[in-house]
Amino acid sequence: MILRIFAISAIIFGAVSPKKVEQVHLSLSGKPDEMVVTWLTQDPLPNVTPYVAFGVTKDALRLTSKGNSTGWADQGKKKVMRYTHRATMNSLVPGQVYYYQVGSSQAMSDVFHFRQPDQSLPLRAAIFGDLSIYKGQQSIDQLIAARKNNQFDLIIHIGDLAYDLHDNDGDNGDDYMNAIQDFAAYVPYMVFAGNNEVDSNFNQIVNRFTMPKNGVYDNNLFWSFDYGFVHFIALNSEYYAEEMSKETQLQYKWLGNDLAGNSKKWTIVMFHRPWYCSSKKKKGCHDDQDILSRDGLKDKFPGLEELLNKYKVDLILYGHKHTYERMWPIFNAQPFKSQDPGHIKNAPAPVYILTGGAGCHSHEDPSDHIMQDFSVKALGEYGYTFLTVYNSTHLSTDYVDTSETSGKFLDPFVLEKD
Ligand SMILES: *[C@@H]1O[C@H](CO)[C@@H](O)[C@H](O)[C@H]1NC(C)=O
Ligand SMILES: *[C@@H]1O[C@H](CO)[C@@H](O)[C@H](O)[C@H]1NC(C)=O
Repeated sequence: MILRIFAISAIIFGAVSPKKVEQVHLSLSGKPDEMVVTWLTQDPLPNVTPYVAFGVTKDALRLTSKGNSTGWADQGKKKVMRYTHRATMNSLVPGQVYYYQVGSSQAMSDVFHFRQPDQSLPLRAAIFGDLSIYKGQQSIDQLIAARKNNQFDLIIHIGDLAYDLHDNDGDNGDDYMNAIQDFAAYVPYMVFAGNNEVDSNFNQIVNRFTMPKNGVYDNNLFWSFDYGFVHFIALNSEYYAEEMSKETQLQYKWLGNDLAGNSKKWTIVMFHRPWYCSSKKKKGCHDDQDILSRDGLKDKFPGLEELLNKYKVDLILYGHKHTYERMWPIFNAQPFKSQDPGHIKNAPAPVYILTGGAGCHSHEDPSDHIMQDFSVKALGEYGYTFLTVYNSTHLSTDYVDTSETSGKFLDPFVLEKD
């Protein structure tokens, strides 16, 4: 009897649940009046159109936008098919709270909400790399609590998601994306690839996300957008580590044009692999695959440091090493030290922050690291970098230890310029 009930319910739920809406997450398109929503179903939606319904009150989602569906195969042996759906909400009013629901005539999601960024207000962002459910749950829980308290406008994940998105035929990626829905469905969640997303031509990053379409390939791997006083740029350091010469050159050319056209007061650049940090080794983090993107190699791999320095990038963030370290402004391995490491004014080179301590299984404790001359502060607590951009002259960063849901702020830093 129990078996029969189980069998019947399995048929009922088996027929319905694969069309269930999962893994809802927001992202910015780069246009201030748009918000992109991406979600997934395990089954295709033949003959129906995915859509988002939205509005300014929860019980009147009167506006709709039609979406797109893309079926894609996981790279595992079973080649599991999944269906990613994408829709853009537009003509949104800055500062307005919107409620929304995604799906199709087959099944709809819960109702979520977000505040359309008001870019005239200070920007508050959580930035981190290297996060999974296993070991990262405390950071995920803290990010959810902080989101509920309206503590940020933007979340940026600088590579290495879920360890790995493609594990267990992609089920691991589904679990991760469902676990973060409680923040990512409410605050735009921007991502790009780390070494753990390289597999099968970046299959998972390409297919699970929707980043600004201003790169060369429009495939989420490198992109930029403006927000208030800031120009954000994400680069793919894995092109270098994988020695993909053609792609590194195209990205370099794109970056040069992007920086030349940038009129924002602050420029923040992010990529996965670190150029400068301390480690157990005397010379610090100097793995060849990591610094190829910095120094380059002849015409084959154009180095990025000179270009970023030439265009006066203010802040560079990366992960890959599973810890936190803030550094002085650096160019060509030379730190530019000034009086107060907690408040730097008119930095002559980019300030560097390693922020890969959100929650990887192999966490690192910097207490046994040999501190480099360019280092200011290293911390082993799990957490993320909290960035605030106040205006055209002041931004601040801090390190949020996520061992408490309220978050403990461990490394206040102000960057100021005229
Ligand atoms: C739908 O797909 C087309 C073609 O790939 C793309 O140009 C468009 O931006 C997509 N729409 C959304 C909402 O993502
Ligand atoms: C910018 O923000 C900082 C920090 O809040 C503040 O001290 C400063 O006066 C502001 N400057 C301008 C021009 O508003």
